[in-house]
Amino acid sequence: MTEITLFPQAQSLERQAGSFTINARTRLFCADRALGETLANYLRPATGFALPAHPLDDDIASDVQNAILLLPAAAGAPERYTLTVEAGRAVIAAAERRGFLHGMQTLRQLLPPQVLADDVQTGVDWTLPGVAISDAPAFAWRGIHLDVGRHMFPVASIKKFLDTLAFYKFNTFHWHLTEDQGWRIEIKKYPRLTEVGAYRAETVLLDDSSRFDGRPYGGFYTQEEVRDIVAYAAERGISIMPEIELPGHGLAALAAYPELGCGGREYRVRTNWGIEPDIYCAGKDRVFEFLKDVFSEALELFPSKYIHIGGDEAPKARWKACPACQARIKAEGLADEDELQSWFIRQIEAWLNERGRNLVGWDEILEGGLTPNATVMSWRGSAGGIAAANAGHDVIMTPNTYCYLDYYQHEDWTREPPAIARSLPLKQVWQYKVVPDEITEDKRRHILGGQGNLWSEYIPTADHLEYMAFPRAIAIADVLWNHPAERDYGALAARLKRHLPCLDALNVNYRPLDD
Ligand code: ACM
Ligand code: ZN
Repeated sequence: MTEITLFPQAQSLERQAGSFTINARTRLFCADRALGETLANYLRPATGFALPAHPLDDDIASDVQNAILLLPAAAGAPERYTLTVEAGRAVIAAAERRGFLHGMQTLRQLLPPQVLADDVQTGVDWTLPGVAISDAPAFAWRGIHLDVGRHMFPVASIKKFLDTLAFYKFNTFHWHLTEDQGWRIEIKKYPRLTEVGAYRAETVLLDDSSRFDGRPYGGFYTQEEVRDIVAYAAERGISIMPEIELPGHGLAALAAYPELGCGGREYRVRTNWGIEPDIYCAGKDRVFEFLKDVFSEALELFPSKYIHIGGDEAPKARWKACPACQARIKAEGLADEDELQSWFIRQIEAWLNERGRNLVGWDEILEGGLTPNATVMSWRGSAGGIAAANAGHDVIMTPNTYCYLDYYQHEDWTREPPAIARSLPLKQVWQYKVVPDEITEDKRRHILGGQGNLWSEYIPTADHLEYMAFPRAIAIADVLWNHPAERDYGALAARLKRHLPCLDALNVNYRPLDD
């Protein structure tokens, strides 16, 4: 029997007798026609088969042959599905659409990799091995973050990326849309955000940080494009959480609307990497009006329950020297600039909560006091996540030491294209334990899950984005779906080696495995 390789590995998989070969006469049976169409759309391009969808009427014989059935299951854990393959048929059962989608991805992985091609493949034996799979994720939050502030990627590339994430059963795409180096989302009320804030004069060279390329760079996603991408992701079971950064990482907005800063200097969209001292002024009411206007438009575009407000890397030097910020500290009875940041975030959190959304922030939002309902994204290792969970807050773990997919993929940097000056080989990613031991037993439920992060300073193209993401993101998918106790790297590498033909068929520019 050939070995079955699934990423992420199924919670329970048993081989069973029989097999089922899809052919030109195979029919789909489904209660929900749209779901049947989704599956047909996955299988049709490479097989060339019509795969007509039929309703699941009562008179369908229970032993209907040459069929793929999508059967509604009694309510189960969200995202759970079962998939059985026996002689003459395959059955996916789930209570929710998300479960069916995961079952379909598993079905695709059980077929020969040619099924992933987008044109007809001839001479392929489309046989599914006999299996009984029962599967559900260990963690509800399985995400990948993408920064488009430093470099951005075409809509078609983002869609391809989402397709690949869905293939690995990720359910969240964290879209980092605003940065010191570029504002990337159209906001109708503030056109200068994209007229001015979306463009930088030049970019520091990736292989020599003392020189610049002298070429303007920029662009943005229109609201129409954003809507299209959000819908595309949703069809694939992926929720998009937007990130609009405050109070730091907002230099592009200050360049567009200088009155939003503490003042006294000229703001220009940043042309190199690093932490920017100029941040939104916390003393001016105008800033909060602006941010609420921006979020108002964002909420229309993103149905996500979670909205990320950044909160990281906001130096306080400008606030210390700003009369308006100091007046705010006094008026609100705050102890210092850290508490001013917490107060700043509280204004936005209350506003988001009133609109039924949850605020997510990087772990710096713990400094100066966590706002009441915040979810913390732990990136500077796990310490922030541990503190937040133990304090009763929800947490998404994304420690840089295991999850920063912009780091070098080899300890020997000379073997790799330029990246941020840290290493994170696949082997290390595979050791990612999502729930740290330091979180007390009764608080572990606060760990919603985790995600891999892709900062784009050193990711100038969509091809390179794929190179940095894969295969490391696949290891993250496996960890978040299973959280396996045993982490034998040799076993992972062997599984990945068998799986690489899938990435080839998907035309993903992954980094080759080390020998
Ligand atoms: C971060 O990496 N600055 C969240
Ligand atoms: Zn100020």
